[in-house]
Amino acid sequence: METIISQNAREASRAAGSAVADLVRNKPTAVLGLATGGTPQRLYEELIRARREEGLDFSRVVTFNLDEYVGLGPNDSRSYHFYMWKNLFSHINIKPENARVPNGLAADVPASCAAYERAIAAAGGIDLQVLGLGENGHIGFNEPGSAFDSRTRVETLSAQTIRNNARFFGGDEKRVPRHSVTMGLATIMEARRILLLAFGDAKAAAVAAMIEGPVATKLPASVLQHHPDAQVFLDPSAAAALKRARFA
Ligand code: PGA
Repeated sequence: METIISQNAREASRAAGSAVADLVRNKPTAVLGLATGGTPQRLYEELIRARREEGLDFSRVVTFNLDEYVGLGPNDSRSYHFYMWKNLFSHINIKPENARVPNGLAADVPASCAAYERAIAAAGGIDLQVLGLGENGHIGFNEPGSAFDSRTRVETLSAQTIRNNARFFGGDEKRVPRHSVTMGLATIMEARRILLLAFGDAKAAAVAAMIEGPVATKLPASVLQHHPDAQVFLDPSAAAALKRARFA
């Protein structure tokens, strides 16, 4: 894992965003894995800027999002589908059929998860996966205890994730869906390159455990230690608990 500590979240997002833009420039048919949440918003702003100012072409890019809440549809403003259109897709020239988000409303959820895996494989696999990091070390909605060989499936949200995400549901934990559909850890690990972003004090403990702790299912992101091409973009607060940060 390569650790890159920038002066602030804006600089880190710019660096990660230009890595994504470079890939799209060099490989116009790139397959991107995308994340939601507060963390990647500035990275998406960087891609939108590259589209607007440099004409970066997304017309042949294919994207697969990590996860979605079970029970929330594309028109629900709290769904990750909605988030992606609001924060990225509607501002770039991606074809709607190439912008894939797991279906939170599938009648047959296991079949829909299997179809998602097949679609990723049919697209040639993910070239670059963008990740955020949960305070509990989750990536996607792979909560502590998720198996390293897990694939796209339904996952129950942990109490901590429900607490953290309540801010998107009017601060009311009771309104946060209990289940999500998420790519599995094995799905994520198959991406050819991974960029994980983490900002702020609240992530410092998870960042340190991910980079310097043992590889263990209680901290799902620690599996990234086994990835051959993973970069971690941090601001100084998120890097604060690293013991060997000066060697990063
Ligand atoms: P955040 O969430 O970007 O909103 O902090 C990250 C995550 O839980 O994966």
